[in-house]
Amino acid sequence: MSRYHVKSFGCQMNVYDSERMGDLLAAEGHVAVDSPDGADIVVLNTCHIREKAAEKLYSDIGRLKKPRADGSRPVIVAAGCVAQAEGAEIGRRAPAVDVIVGPLAYHNLPELLKQAAAIPEDARGARWGRAIDTDMPAIPKFAHLPARRHQGASAFLTVQEGCDKFCTFCVVPYTRGGETSRPQADLVAEAEALVAAGAVEITLIGQNVNAYDGGAAGTDSLPLLIARLAEIPGLQRIRYTTSHPRDMTRALIEAHRDIPKLMPYLHLPVQSGSSQVLKAMNRAHTRESYLATLAELRSVRPDIALSGDFIVGFPGETEADFADTLRIVAEVGYAQAYSFKYSIRPGTPAALMPDQVPEPVKEERLARLQAAITAGAHDFNKASVGRRTEILLERPGRKPGQLIGKTPWLQSAVVEIPGAKIGDLIAVEITAGQPNSVEAVPLFTPAERTAA
Ligand code: 5AD
Ligand code: SF4
Repeated sequence: MSRYHVKSFGCQMNVYDSERMGDLLAAEGHVAVDSPDGADIVVLNTCHIREKAAEKLYSDIGRLKKPRADGSRPVIVAAGCVAQAEGAEIGRRAPAVDVIVGPLAYHNLPELLKQAAAIPEDARGARWGRAIDTDMPAIPKFAHLPARRHQGASAFLTVQEGCDKFCTFCVVPYTRGGETSRPQADLVAEAEALVAAGAVEITLIGQNVNAYDGGAAGTDSLPLLIARLAEIPGLQRIRYTTSHPRDMTRALIEAHRDIPKLMPYLHLPVQSGSSQVLKAMNRAHTRESYLATLAELRSVRPDIALSGDFIVGFPGETEADFADTLRIVAEVGYAQAYSFKYSIRPGTPAALMPDQVPEPVKEERLARLQAAITAGAHDFNKASVGRRTEILLERPGRKPGQLIGKTPWLQSAVVEIPGAKIGDLIAVEITAGQPNSVEAVPLFTPAERTAA
């Protein structure tokens, strides 16, 4: 029996994978610890989207390979998308790594640890020999994973993986492979287990979650899956992320009207407000088609909160293109959004495009965009003052007595409510809007609510 620690570097999918690697190790009798310091096995679950992802990995490995006070050092596992993309390179640059495993192969983690342990130690500074698996197997890993052990009010559920879209800036189609969907019956079973363990909210995740086609309705299977999950008693809230504008079907849009448990929130990355840049990005949508999709959504669900991703400084982006991006931010009124400076990913088409934008220009555009996004989010929060709604309590606040919950629109809401606990759904009125959160007061105490 060993103590293990899994460190997540990235997106929700990365967090889900970390949890599932933990499930695999626990099923082998190992025990989770909160920090890498006391761990015998440390899994570094890397993310390729984040800037300097590889540097972060190497600096962690550098720290972990140093012998501790008692002379011991952990077995080091490099996992995730950087391991997939640069497995061989990691082996050369960081010989101390014992296991290298990609995101589609981690169901083999226990076996890889055994293989590595069986290889005699050499002079590399590793604990064991090295085992590596960056295959993209035809049979998805999910069938080989043990039951979920997740505890908590809110849980992720991977329904779809991979990407067929090949945006010219992105590595995902290369690291996660093509789009694959899990069978609906498996997802219903996993969701039921999560709810039985206390989850009241489930977020369906996938690189292109709305390309989900694991049910009878082919590419319209996501709304059917959501409708099926909404039948699970005890499950109160359903969300999904990340969606591609191309796959926003009429049936999915209408699900936001017809399924009360489906929260009024959509993360729909646009990347740029300029149709010309979108073409160069190979996004398969234009500024106009994106706005038309949002108009359809708002016509069925007027209060829907919108979120997006933006890239500034894509090769060839002019000041006029960037102005289109600022305009789309103002026009849409995002509740929140993420923005990134374009950065080269080797092996992607945009890496070789002419007219790369100089770093200072990217920085200046990013600062302007982020100011616009922050102001928009503040406006959104201020506009929700006076709304009566429910929040799902998720964690303690900064001050004693405070709790932080999420509104249906995914705003963080700060409340003081004696007797309430994490996981409760509490009726509140929103009383103030801050740049990154709202303040709320409870409409009932938990005791009044129980009595009612
Ligand atoms: N440069 C900058 N941002 C990127 N993203 C993906 N690849 C890159 C890149 N090469 C951003 C996109 C995507 C989000 C997850 O990360 O906006 O939607
Ligand atoms: Fe990357 Fe584009 Fe696929 Fe999203 S849709 S994962 S940005 S290639």
